[in-house]
Amino acid sequence: MFETLDQVETDLKQRLVRAAKDRRSPMHVPAVVTSDVDVRSMVLREFNSSAWTLRFHTDTRAPKVAAVEADPRMAVLFYDKGSKIQIRVRGKGLILRDDPLTQTAWDNGTNFARRCYMGEGPGAASDTPTSGLPAEFEGHEPTDEQLVPARENFAVLLVELAELDWLYLAHTGHVRAQFAKDEAGNWTGRWVSP
Ligand SMILES: Cc1cc2nc3c(=O)[nH]c(=O)nc-3n(C[C@H](O)[C@H](O)[C@H](O)COP(=O)(O)O)c2cc1C
Repeated sequence: MFETLDQVETDLKQRLVRAAKDRRSPMHVPAVVTSDVDVRSMVLREFNSSAWTLRFHTDTRAPKVAAVEADPRMAVLFYDKGSKIQIRVRGKGLILRDDPLTQTAWDNGTNFARRCYMGEGPGAASDTPTSGLPAEFEGHEPTDEQLVPARENFAVLLVELAELDWLYLAHTGHVRAQFAKDEAGNWTGRWVSP
Protein backbone atom coordinates (compact mmCIF):
# COMPACT_ATOMS: atom_id res chain seq x y z
CA MET A 1 0.00 0.00 0.00
CA PHE A 2 2.71 2.49 0.99
CA GLU A 3 5.84 1.32 -0.72
CA THR A 4 7.59 4.52 -1.69
CA LEU A 5 8.32 7.81 0.04
CA ASP A 6 6.60 9.59 -2.84
CA GLN A 7 3.40 7.72 -2.01
CA VAL A 8 3.70 8.80 1.61
CA GLU A 9 4.33 12.42 0.61
CA THR A 10 1.24 12.37 -1.60
CA ASP A 11 -0.81 10.86 1.22
CA LEU A 12 0.42 13.51 3.65
CA LYS A 13 -0.48 16.33 1.30
CA GLN A 14 -3.90 14.92 0.47
CA ARG A 15 -4.77 14.42 4.13
CA LEU A 16 -3.71 17.93 5.14
CA VAL A 17 -5.58 19.50 2.20
CA ARG A 18 -8.72 17.58 3.17
CA ALA A 19 -8.21 18.34 6.87
CA ALA A 20 -8.59 22.03 6.11
CA LYS A 21 -11.42 21.80 3.59
CA ASP A 22 -13.62 19.12 5.12
CA ARG A 23 -15.16 19.73 8.57
CA ARG A 24 -15.82 15.99 8.83
CA SER A 25 -12.15 15.13 8.40
CA PRO A 26 -10.79 13.59 11.62
CA MET A 27 -7.80 15.87 11.11
CA HIS A 28 -9.83 19.10 10.94
CA VAL A 29 -9.09 20.13 14.56
CA PRO A 30 -5.51 19.18 15.39
CA ALA A 31 -3.64 19.75 18.65
CA VAL A 32 -1.40 22.81 18.30
CA VAL A 33 1.69 22.98 20.52
CA THR A 34 3.61 26.13 21.41
CA SER A 35 7.12 26.56 22.81
CA ASP A 36 5.77 27.45 26.28
CA VAL A 37 4.80 23.76 26.58
CA ASP A 38 1.10 24.42 26.09
CA VAL A 39 -1.31 22.76 23.67
CA ARG A 40 -4.83 23.45 22.44
CA SER A 41 -7.30 22.36 19.74
CA MET A 42 -7.53 24.66 16.71
CA VAL A 43 -9.45 24.49 13.46
CA LEU A 44 -7.11 24.05 10.50
CA ARG A 45 -8.19 26.69 7.93
CA GLU A 46 -5.78 25.94 5.11
CA PHE A 47 -2.84 23.79 4.10
CA ASN A 48 -0.75 25.35 1.34
CA SER A 49 0.91 22.35 -0.29
CA SER A 50 3.38 24.45 -2.33
CA ALA A 51 4.61 26.58 0.57
CA TRP A 52 4.10 23.79 3.13
CA THR A 53 2.28 26.11 5.54
CA LEU A 54 -0.68 25.59 7.87
CA ARG A 55 -3.09 28.47 8.48
CA PHE A 56 -4.97 28.93 11.75
CA HIS A 57 -7.02 31.84 13.07
CA THR A 58 -6.53 33.33 16.51
CA ASP A 59 -7.33 36.24 18.78
CA THR A 60 -4.24 38.44 19.14
CA ARG A 61 -4.89 38.65 22.90
CA ALA A 62 -4.70 34.86 23.39
CA PRO A 63 -1.69 33.67 25.42
CA LYS A 64 -0.54 31.49 22.50
CA VAL A 65 0.16 34.62 20.43
CA ALA A 66 2.66 35.96 22.98
CA ALA A 67 4.19 32.48 23.21
CA VAL A 68 4.69 32.24 19.44
CA GLU A 69 6.15 35.73 19.28
CA ALA A 70 8.56 34.97 22.13
CA ASP A 71 9.73 31.67 20.61
CA PRO A 72 8.26 30.57 17.27
CA ARG A 73 8.96 26.84 17.56
CA MET A 74 5.74 24.90 17.12
CA ALA A 75 4.35 21.41 16.63
CA VAL A 76 0.96 20.21 15.39
CA LEU A 77 -0.50 16.74 15.93
CA PHE A 78 -3.14 15.08 13.72
CA TYR A 79 -4.67 11.62 14.05
CA ASP A 80 -7.12 9.84 11.78
CA LYS A 81 -8.49 6.89 13.75
CA GLY A 82 -10.31 5.35 10.77
CA SER A 83 -7.23 5.39 8.55
CA LYS A 84 -4.92 4.71 11.50
CA ILE A 85 -2.59 7.48 10.39
CA GLN A 86 -0.84 9.95 12.67
CA ILE A 87 0.84 13.07 11.31
CA ARG A 88 3.18 15.10 13.51
CA VAL A 89 4.68 18.29 12.15
CA ARG A 90 7.14 20.82 13.49
CA GLY A 91 7.88 24.29 12.23
CA LYS A 92 7.97 27.99 12.85
CA GLY A 93 4.92 30.03 13.82
CA LEU A 94 4.24 33.51 12.47
CA ILE A 95 1.54 35.86 13.76
CA LEU A 96 0.19 37.91 10.86
CA ARG A 97 -1.90 40.88 11.97
CA ASP A 98 -1.90 43.16 8.92
CA ASP A 99 -1.01 40.78 6.13
CA PRO A 100 -3.26 40.58 3.02
CA LEU A 101 -3.80 36.92 3.98
CA THR A 102 -5.25 38.08 7.32
CA GLN A 103 -7.51 40.64 5.68
CA THR A 104 -8.79 38.04 3.20
CA ALA A 105 -9.44 35.57 6.02
CA TRP A 106 -11.32 38.26 7.99
CA ASP A 107 -13.32 39.33 4.93
CA ASN A 108 -14.29 35.71 4.21
CA GLY A 109 -15.60 35.06 7.75
CA THR A 110 -19.27 35.25 8.66
CA ASN A 111 -20.39 37.92 11.11
CA PHE A 112 -21.17 35.15 13.61
CA ALA A 113 -17.60 33.87 13.36
CA ARG A 114 -16.17 37.40 13.58
CA ARG A 115 -18.30 38.05 16.67
CA CYS A 116 -15.81 35.92 18.71
CA TYR A 117 -13.28 38.74 18.39
CA MET A 118 -15.57 41.45 19.85
CA GLY A 119 -15.48 40.69 23.55
CA GLU A 120 -12.93 40.07 26.24
CA GLY A 121 -9.72 38.37 25.13
CA PRO A 122 -9.19 34.64 25.73
CA GLY A 123 -8.12 34.01 29.31
CA ALA A 124 -9.62 37.24 30.73
CA ALA A 125 -10.81 36.51 34.30
CA SER A 126 -14.48 36.82 35.26
CA ASP A 127 -16.39 36.45 38.54
CA THR A 128 -19.20 34.60 36.73
CA PRO A 129 -19.37 32.08 33.83
CA THR A 130 -18.96 34.19 30.69
CA SER A 131 -18.78 33.99 26.92
CA GLY A 132 -16.73 37.19 27.11
CA LEU A 133 -19.11 38.79 24.59
CA PRO A 134 -20.88 42.12 25.17
CA ALA A 135 -24.40 41.23 26.43
CA GLU A 136 -26.15 42.74 23.40
CA PHE A 137 -24.43 40.28 21.08
CA GLU A 138 -25.17 37.09 23.03
CA GLY A 139 -27.15 35.08 20.48
CA HIS A 140 -27.26 38.02 18.05
CA GLU A 141 -25.31 38.59 14.89
CA PRO A 142 -23.48 41.93 14.89
CA THR A 143 -23.56 44.21 11.86
CA ASP A 144 -20.51 44.91 9.69
CA GLU A 145 -20.20 48.32 11.34
CA GLN A 146 -20.32 46.90 14.87
CA LEU A 147 -17.55 44.49 13.92
CA VAL A 148 -15.04 47.15 12.82
CA PRO A 149 -13.21 47.39 16.21
CA ALA A 150 -12.96 43.58 16.43
CA ARG A 151 -10.68 43.38 13.40
CA GLU A 152 -7.62 44.43 15.39
CA ASN A 153 -8.09 41.39 17.66
CA PHE A 154 -7.93 38.97 14.74
CA ALA A 155 -4.76 37.41 13.35
CA VAL A 156 -3.61 34.53 11.23
CA LEU A 157 -1.21 32.05 12.77
CA LEU A 158 0.84 30.61 9.96
CA VAL A 159 3.02 27.59 10.65
CA GLU A 160 5.91 27.14 8.21
CA LEU A 161 6.59 23.42 8.25
CA ALA A 162 10.16 22.14 8.54
CA GLU A 163 9.71 18.52 9.68
CA LEU A 164 6.99 15.94 9.08
CA ASP A 165 6.51 12.57 10.73
CA TRP A 166 3.96 10.13 9.27
CA LEU A 167 2.98 6.89 11.03
CA TYR A 168 0.65 4.23 9.68
CA LEU A 169 -0.58 1.53 12.07
CA ALA A 170 -1.00 -1.83 10.32
CA HIS A 171 -1.51 -5.41 11.54
CA THR A 172 1.21 -6.48 9.18
CA GLY A 173 3.65 -4.04 10.78
CA HIS A 174 3.50 -0.32 11.37
CA VAL A 175 5.18 1.94 8.82
CA ARG A 176 6.77 5.31 9.56
CA ALA A 177 8.40 7.96 7.41
CA GLN A 178 9.93 11.34 8.10
CA PHE A 179 10.56 14.33 5.87
CA ALA A 180 12.75 17.35 6.59
CA LYS A 181 13.32 20.58 4.71
CA ASP A 182 16.91 21.70 4.17
CA GLU A 183 18.15 25.29 4.03
CA ALA A 184 17.65 25.40 0.26
CA GLY A 185 14.00 24.49 0.80
CA ASN A 186 14.25 20.93 -0.54
CA TRP A 187 12.48 18.10 1.26
CA THR A 188 14.22 14.82 1.95
CA GLY A 189 12.39 11.73 3.15
CA ARG A 190 13.48 8.58 4.92
CA TRP A 191 11.90 5.48 6.43
CA VAL A 192 12.31 5.02 10.19
CA SER A 193 11.34 2.29 12.60
CA PRO A 194 7.96 3.01 14.22
C1 LIG B 1 -13.10 22.20 18.62
C2 LIG B 1 -12.33 23.44 19.00
C3 LIG B 1 -11.87 24.30 18.01
C4 LIG B 1 -11.15 25.44 18.34
N1 LIG B 1 -10.68 26.25 17.35
C5 LIG B 1 -9.92 27.32 17.67
C6 LIG B 1 -9.36 28.13 16.63
O1 LIG B 1 -9.54 27.87 15.43
N2 LIG B 1 -8.61 29.18 17.02
C7 LIG B 1 -8.36 29.49 18.32
O2 LIG B 1 -7.64 30.46 18.59
N3 LIG B 1 -8.88 28.75 19.32
C8 LIG B 1 -9.66 27.67 19.02
N4 LIG B 1 -10.20 26.90 20.01
C9 LIG B 1 -9.99 27.32 21.42
C10 LIG B 1 -8.58 26.89 21.88
O3 LIG B 1 -8.53 25.48 22.04
C11 LIG B 1 -8.16 27.59 23.16
O4 LIG B 1 -9.04 27.24 24.21
C12 LIG B 1 -8.10 29.11 23.03
O5 LIG B 1 -7.67 29.50 21.74
C13 LIG B 1 -7.16 29.73 24.06
O6 LIG B 1 -5.89 29.18 23.82
P1 LIG B 1 -4.55 29.76 24.49
O7 LIG B 1 -4.90 30.09 25.91
O8 LIG B 1 -3.59 28.66 24.37
O9 LIG B 1 -4.14 30.96 23.69
C14 LIG B 1 -10.91 25.74 19.70
C15 LIG B 1 -11.36 24.88 20.69
C16 LIG B 1 -12.06 23.74 20.34
C17 LIG B 1 -12.54 22.84 21.45
